[in-house]
Amino acid sequence: MCGIVGYIGKRDVAPLLLEGLQRLEYRGYDSAGIVITSRTAAGKPGTLKMVKAKGRVRELEAKVPKRFAGTTGIAHTRWATHGAPSDENAHPHLDADNKVAVVHNGIIDNASELRAKLTADGIVFLSDTDTEVLVHLIARAQADTLEEKVREALRHVEGTYGIAVMHADFNDRIVVARNGSPVVLGIGEKEMFVASDVAALVAHTRQVVTLDDGEMATLKADDFRTYTTEGSTTTATPTTVEWEAESYDMGGHDTYMHKEIFEQADAVDRVLRGRIDDRFSTVHLGGLNLDAREARGVRRIKILGCGTSYHAGQIGAQLIEELARIPADAEPASEFRYRNPVVDPDTLYVAVSQSGETYDVLAAVQELKRKGARVLGVVNVVGSAIAREADGGTYVHAGPEVCVVSTKCFTNTVVAFALLALHLGRIRDLSVADGKRIIDGLRRLPEQISEILAGEDEIKRLAAEYAEAKSMMFIGRVRGYPVAREASLKLKEVSYIHAEAYPASELKHGPLALIEPAMPTVAIVPDDDLLEKNRAAMEEIKARSGRILAVAHQVQEKADHTIVVPKNENELDPILMGIPLQLFAYHTALAMGRDIDKPRNLAKSVTVE
Ligand code: G6P
Repeated sequence: MCGIVGYIGKRDVAPLLLEGLQRLEYRGYDSAGIVITSRTAAGKPGTLKMVKAKGRVRELEAKVPKRFAGTTGIAHTRWATHGAPSDENAHPHLDADNKVAVVHNGIIDNASELRAKLTADGIVFLSDTDTEVLVHLIARAQADTLEEKVREALRHVEGTYGIAVMHADFNDRIVVARNGSPVVLGIGEKEMFVASDVAALVAHTRQVVTLDDGEMATLKADDFRTYTTEGSTTTATPTTVEWEAESYDMGGHDTYMHKEIFEQADAVDRVLRGRIDDRFSTVHLGGLNLDAREARGVRRIKILGCGTSYHAGQIGAQLIEELARIPADAEPASEFRYRNPVVDPDTLYVAVSQSGETYDVLAAVQELKRKGARVLGVVNVVGSAIAREADGGTYVHAGPEVCVVSTKCFTNTVVAFALLALHLGRIRDLSVADGKRIIDGLRRLPEQISEILAGEDEIKRLAAEYAEAKSMMFIGRVRGYPVAREASLKLKEVSYIHAEAYPASELKHGPLALIEPAMPTVAIVPDDDLLEKNRAAMEEIKARSGRILAVAHQVQEKADHTIVVPKNENELDPILMGIPLQLFAYHTALAMGRDIDKPRNLAKSVTVE
């Protein structure tokens, strides 16, 4: 999704901003642009110089003229919402006098109404974007300072935004504002950065300030200040980002997806580290803000997330029901808010998000909090909006995930849920012996993950065999069903092969009609109490000449091929069973020549509705 990067200081700004944009490429975009200026003597207006290009950042770079010097600038990667991808619609946008430049993430809901009013007043629009209304509103504002002008403009605007604004008459500063779209300030030595994502900052500074909704900031080369859109000063204490700039590099892999799949053993080790309490066979989760008495009072748990995080939440709900015996379920956050849900005081709500910025999840959290609910966050990005909005929670410590499709973060999120389930279970009815059994199982995970990944060559061979399929079915039962759903999503996202996931028990109620040799099935077949039932489902498929690839703990006779995975505790098996299918999706997509890290039409972080 759209990315913002900005700089004010002494260095040559264009190369800095272009590099920053490259760091944001993973979020998905279709055009890019940059505007810069140089400091002038006080009172003397500057000149804004702008270049924009449809396509990739390298195409923008190629268009930047040789003499393009400046020390202040803002730049943007755009993901089209209002208006097609084009040079004109790319950000930044300028007013007719080339004085005001704006880059914007988010959506202005009342843009067409504002556009009509401004057009009636004689303003000529140069793009089809919603953002351009902001430019003209700021340019027309009567206030004396840039901060006031921006504030005045924002008063007319409904919708979401993360914006960065430059003005030729106030070229000692960049003004930024946030409402629903992330804005992070990077604090340097006599230089300041701004970005929509820390990925663009960590190469230069690890000291960051994350703005809250309704907050604005003024950046000057040697200082910054934050305040609300109403004008009152806020306190902003910089925090240190733990992620290293190198963790954003490819590290010898051909794609981020491959790198991130292979980081999973270490990532799981990280989420477990320092949390296990062997004495009481439980885990400590420092940030939950839920004492034992409150935890005992929870009657139900509702988990909310989108995409892969929603699937991680489904496995999480099962873990909570199994280990803590608290009724739990997961629901897409994107739907939850719109069905006027009954918000019950005894229900604990858990919001799951890798980025911590997904608008649908954030909005669900805000709606819940407005209704007085208690919300925990299970989030990867430290200090992100959902983490800050929640009453407490746990970080999943997967490290930065760059590939649009989520792999290591999914696995770590499920492990984080296992920790939460164990913690709640040990406060309630889970025995010391069972607690120990789960802890031992968790400790075995990193090694077992490495064992699965060592089988890459075989999985690659299987992927080549199945890559011809136009469509694939994924089935599983109870613990295996969310694994099937996530594996099917992975295949769709990255290879564009149509895939469906069904509970194996539901096959005969409809989807069996689809089974034929050209429609292979991937079956999740753990060695648990449902093994025979899963075998029966495979038999039904075989009887209709369907091909089967099983992921199981032992070779399955009914299947044409089996990927054998190491056995853990029944409750934890779903964590391992999905991993070979990440590699399966990866190699299928590779064989088909797909753009693996940036699948078409998808974005890493969806900060608009
Ligand atoms: C987007 C991504 C998905 C991701 C979902 C939720 O749709 O393409 O891969 O699962 O957002 O993202 P989150 O950051 O909230 O986990």
